[in-house]
Parts: sequence; C-alpha cells; structure tokens
Amino acid sequence: MNDDDVVYVKASDDTYYRDVKALFSQVFPEFDRSDIIKSWEWRDKNYSYVSYSKKSKRIIAFILVQLDGPSNLYVSYMAVHPDERGIGIGAIVVKTLLKMAKRDQKAVSLIPLTRVRKFYEKLGFYMTGKNHAYNFHCYGTRRAVKAAHESRPPHSHS
Ligand SMILES: CC(C)(COP(=O)(O)OP(=O)(O)OC[C@H]1O[C@@H](n2cnc3c(N)ncnc32)[C@H](O)[C@@H]1OP(=O)(O)O)[C@@H](O)C(=O)NCCC(=O)NCCS
Repeated sequence: MNDDDVVYVKASDDTYYRDVKALFSQVFPEFDRSDIIKSWEWRDKNYSYVSYSKKSKRIIAFILVQLDGPSNLYVSYMAVHPDERGIGIGAIVVKTLLKMAKRDQKAVSLIPLTRVRKFYEKLGFYMTGKNHAYNFHCYGTRRAVKAAHESRPPHSHS
C-alpha cells in the first residue's frame, strides 16, 4: 500500500453497500446480517465512509457512524480487511473520524469488542461506562467522557 493507492470515500450513496456487506460478513461471522443492513440504513452520510484501494480495486476498510443526539457520533461498526491489517489503516480510519468530530465539536462513542479495546485506547478513547450484566464497556473521546459526567444527577457518586 502506498499513500496514493487508498482513497477515502464518503458512504453518501449505495455505491459500496454490497462491498461493505461482504466485508462485514467476512469479519463478523458471529453477527446477524440484519445488523449491517440497519447500520447502513441509519448511517450518517457525512461521517461514514469506506477506504478503497485503487490497486486491488476493492474496499479495504469501512466505518459506519450514527448521529446520536446533536453532539455525539456513535460508531456502529468499523473493520479493516484481514489482508490489510497491521499497517496502520485502522488507525487512519479512526483518526480521520476523530478529526472530523473535533472540527464539528462532537464527541465520539462506541462499544468495542473485548478483543479490540486496546486498539481504541491507543487512539485516545476512554472507558465511559460499564454494563456488568452483559459485560460490555462503553468507550468515548474526552468530549464523550465530559458529556457522560455532565448528564449525571447532581449528587450522584456512581
Ligand atoms: C481492530 C482493527 C480495526 C485494527 O485495524 P488495523 O488496521 O490492523 O490496525 P492498525 O494497524 O492501524 O493498528 C493501530 C495500532 O493498534 C494496535 N492494534 C491493532 N489491533 C489491535 C488489537 N486487536 N489489540 C490490540 N492492539 C491492536 C496496533 O498494534 C497498532 O499499535 P501501534 O500504533 O503501537 O503500532 C482490525 O483488526 C479489524 O478490522 N478487526 C476486526 C473487526 C473489529 O474488531 N472491529 C472493531 C469493533 S467494531
């Protein structure tokens, strides 16, 4: 991969829908296909995008983002093609979203799979909450942490 090879294309129409669905099925075989159908349908068309390799003529990553209230961007799914991992693409995808979020003064939040928590921590995400019953952790940017604290009742110590 060189810098000119990969282009970042907003998922503003359905051009890459089939490719995203195929990559989703490959990367998340444990999840139902209805998850990707809904995530695609509900995506925000300004913040969701794919990374396309001109050389291999295929998408090598995608990130689907939903607007969650006026000031929060929720990442529903992101993935890098298995053949293209470990060379910084995932980091670029997330950093590109973080840059847009900062520009637009929005927080970014997500619920990472246990196996990728470290990946997000390296990119500056913090744990903002925990669900013990289902063992999932909510992660967010500093702005999301601040919003979570501000939304607590005044005398809450939880
Ligand atoms: C997680 C994923 C997006 C990482 O993409 P990637 O392109 O391989 O990641 P990068 O090469 O950009 O790695 C960035 C950094 O994170 C680290 N990292 C990547 N995956 C990691 C993991 N699973 N656990 C811990 N660290 C990880 C890298 O070592 C690298 O660290 P460095 O900056 O110190 O060198 C990719 O493995 C993937 O698509 N996984 C399956 C789908 C998934 O789990 N998506 C996220 C949940 S929605």
